[in-house]
Amino acid sequence: MRCFAVLCFALVFLSACGHYNVSNKQSTKNQDKPGDLSAAPYHLRIGEGFTNPIGYYEQQPRFSWKMNSANKALFQSAYQIQVASEANHQFVANLWDSQKQMSTQNAWIKYQGQTLQSRQKAYWRVRMWDEHGQVSAWSDPASFELGLLGNNDWQATWIRHPETGETYQREFRNRVIENKLYRPQYLRKGFDVSQKIKQARLYISAKGIFKAHINGQQVGKDVMTPGWTPYLQRIETLTYDVTELLAQGENVIGAIVAEGWHTGRILSPQVRDVKPSALLAQLEITLEDGTVQTIASNESWKVSIEGPIRSAGIYDGETYDENFALPDWDTTRFDDSTWKVAIAEPLEPEVELAPKRHTAATTKLVIPAVEIVQVANPQEGVVVFDMGQNMVGVPELNIPVLANQRVTMRFAEALEHNTFYTENMRSALATNYYTATRTGMINYVPTFTFHGYRYIEISGFDSTKTPELNWVNGLVQHSDFDVHASFESSHPKLNKLAENVVWGLRGNFLDIPTDCPQRDERLGWTGDAQVFAQPSMYMADVYGFWSAWLQSVREEQDVDGRVPNFIPTKQNRHTKGASSGWGDAAIIIPWELYEVTGDTQILAENYEMMQGWIAFHESKSSDYISSMISFRDWLQPFPSITEGPDSRRGDTPEKLVSTAYFARSLDYIARAATVLGKHDDARKYKQLFARVKKAFRDTLYDEQTKVKSNSTQTSYLIPLAFDLFEGEDVMRAQQHLLGEFKRADNHLRTGFLGTPLLAPVLQAMGRSDLMYDILFKESYPSWFYSINNGATTTWERWDSYSLQTGFSDQSMNSLNHYAYGAVSQWFYEGILGIRPLEPGFTHVSIAPQFTSRLSNARGAYKTPQGEVEVSWTVSRGQLDMTVVIPKNTRADFVFHGLQANTLVINGTSAANLNLVNQKPGVYRITGNIDWAQIAL
Ligand code: BGC
Repeated sequence: MRCFAVLCFALVFLSACGHYNVSNKQSTKNQDKPGDLSAAPYHLRIGEGFTNPIGYYEQQPRFSWKMNSANKALFQSAYQIQVASEANHQFVANLWDSQKQMSTQNAWIKYQGQTLQSRQKAYWRVRMWDEHGQVSAWSDPASFELGLLGNNDWQATWIRHPETGETYQREFRNRVIENKLYRPQYLRKGFDVSQKIKQARLYISAKGIFKAHINGQQVGKDVMTPGWTPYLQRIETLTYDVTELLAQGENVIGAIVAEGWHTGRILSPQVRDVKPSALLAQLEITLEDGTVQTIASNESWKVSIEGPIRSAGIYDGETYDENFALPDWDTTRFDDSTWKVAIAEPLEPEVELAPKRHTAATTKLVIPAVEIVQVANPQEGVVVFDMGQNMVGVPELNIPVLANQRVTMRFAEALEHNTFYTENMRSALATNYYTATRTGMINYVPTFTFHGYRYIEISGFDSTKTPELNWVNGLVQHSDFDVHASFESSHPKLNKLAENVVWGLRGNFLDIPTDCPQRDERLGWTGDAQVFAQPSMYMADVYGFWSAWLQSVREEQDVDGRVPNFIPTKQNRHTKGASSGWGDAAIIIPWELYEVTGDTQILAENYEMMQGWIAFHESKSSDYISSMISFRDWLQPFPSITEGPDSRRGDTPEKLVSTAYFARSLDYIARAATVLGKHDDARKYKQLFARVKKAFRDTLYDEQTKVKSNSTQTSYLIPLAFDLFEGEDVMRAQQHLLGEFKRADNHLRTGFLGTPLLAPVLQAMGRSDLMYDILFKESYPSWFYSINNGATTTWERWDSYSLQTGFSDQSMNSLNHYAYGAVSQWFYEGILGIRPLEPGFTHVSIAPQFTSRLSNARGAYKTPQGEVEVSWTVSRGQLDMTVVIPKNTRADFVFHGLQANTLVINGTSAANLNLVNQKPGVYRITGNIDWAQIAL
């Protein structure tokens, strides 16, 4: 399990190498005890990176910490973790004492103490020994509290309104479609508390999405909870500390439940036999005398569908009508005698109720409207606001309205010929309505929907008032993780691209990784996820987000090993299709997360799924060549087939793509098996990898290593990236690839699968100069083309939109798709040159790719040990670079393109351009660039 940590070592080795004096000035944060040898570890985290979580999901949590940067010591040589059920000043480790463990590992240590129970709160602390065997002080204690881990913990039952939906008709593309609407339900229950309250926890979930209320106040700030999992197998539950919302005496708990992903339509314009929404709530109040009072959802609750939120759907938007207002419905002042008695339904034993394993979505940023747009076809009483940014979330409106006049809000990603354009949303109506009962100002934030948009069109407001910018704010919503993307350079368009990629991340990480946030999809397409998972780790704390989604992938895997194309699938219709390059997410994502985190649990948890996917690949192959169907190099520009669905799959042959992905998955699973100590498996998969590799080479390429069928950039990028060629083949394939670029005037010709491979392949060829060329192209197809055409996110197609002609006339034109943003990984790994040499960056490579196109670049990557920072400036051929290597990390430096005899590190000349095993600290590096080496 912990072999990488055990492997890691080398304090002996370190002291054997020559080292440059490193400055003690560490990166800035947490210098609480400067210079103190015994400074305690800090940044204590549970699981994938949670701080003092409540409602935690894992019975055997993992512990992580960082070495204090104020500590003079550089490395950890041992640690001790203690876990206690109380946090008195006497810390009594009654649950677990790891004892002193000789290990350099400072992350992902698994709890091995007494079995923890649902609801249990525990405190933990850690101390470490440095490389000289000196022990640190104990850290301040941190805590975690488990949620309800099993269905047996629930006394509550599912409750809902007796009505099971209304039928209505809608029109889409000249068809009338019969549909079903489940109105949002308001549920409530009054109760008395006879004593003072010590603590209260609300455990809650919904089939659908909920908002909980207690005594007139909303519980928490989450949106779209509980999120989307394969509901027929697992529904996540949330835990809130509601101690402060309750009081001795009379209380009321309530919740609103809307359709969400559970009951609303998915993909199709039609809702098909879905089950009604329902609420599950269990409020546990610990009283002063220690007894626990439980208020559980059951048939004693009352329910109404006559509330002000008349309808709410993810794709279609929300309708709010004040005529149905229920003032004080969530307080003791309300009389619910006319409400219906809730129907109670038992928990299904086959549906696991499990604590949410990553943070729920919430409002992360608020942005103001930047302009009131003068559209080409102005209409009386209609105003269009520009948020200045294609964003995901909801608006907050503060607008003047007239009594009983309906306000309509529509959303668009871009204008076309200066008119409001919604065609690319397909069947998603993305429209909100608000009806006020009184003339005056309203404040409205939709509750149960979200939109992908830059522009909002508002009509039906009080048109005697002149629209003002402060009428509209944008609430940017995504799963609650920190975005820490920090790449910056001297090139404004490159910076804009980096920013756009981050907006693509913000926009498509709302509970699950989505392809796009605006049209009638918003689905967890596995191929898109596969190419963006690792890049996203460079920009945000999304480890928990990905590992949670991988659980859904495991649950959706079919018995034959196939992994559906998007996850979760539709509730009642298991999508049977599986595609190479898409389903391979089941192997690629766990492996690539392991590479950057070093957490073996991500491999252990997913190993069986990985094996299943390999078995499915095998079932689709004969003589080691795969015939699995594939979306291939999706949306490759200039396809030879220009009409129909095949035009989207690009020209790289299916067999090539599918066999190559079979090989890549085998290579990764073999490595995973080795890490997990499954050596027989590792041997078996390595052998199979070798056979597939040989078949791939012999069947699909000629003696000159030229692809036998359609030659594309991707047909060479894939084998070069996946290590499918040996010896002379490598060189020849590289030459063919260069030929392909030449033919395209150094433009890319790649789609979803090929694009992320451009940078790693070209850098490995020593041709970062060419990568810069491709990256800096201004004309189509290129990243900057989108920026020249006003992009504020990454697009689905290289030519999704142009300022002159508007949306491209092909269908499928989202302006917020993250796949092409995968290039951002190279900003960190290539331009700054920060790459892990050991899983989890315990050993890091610093090999920046200098270029005459940039006079400076800087940024940092947050490793489990701390931040690796790189900042370089090149002025008149002179490099000035600063690198910060965090504690407990070794670094190798490769200064490609520097003149060896000019290299100076921290004031000392260093003739060697390749330095290995350097220790933590701050490095100031100067030298002269040899341009001849860089620009070939
Ligand atoms: C999605 C893609 C996805 C593709 C697969 C599209 O509709 O938006 O991003 O990968 O389908 O074919």
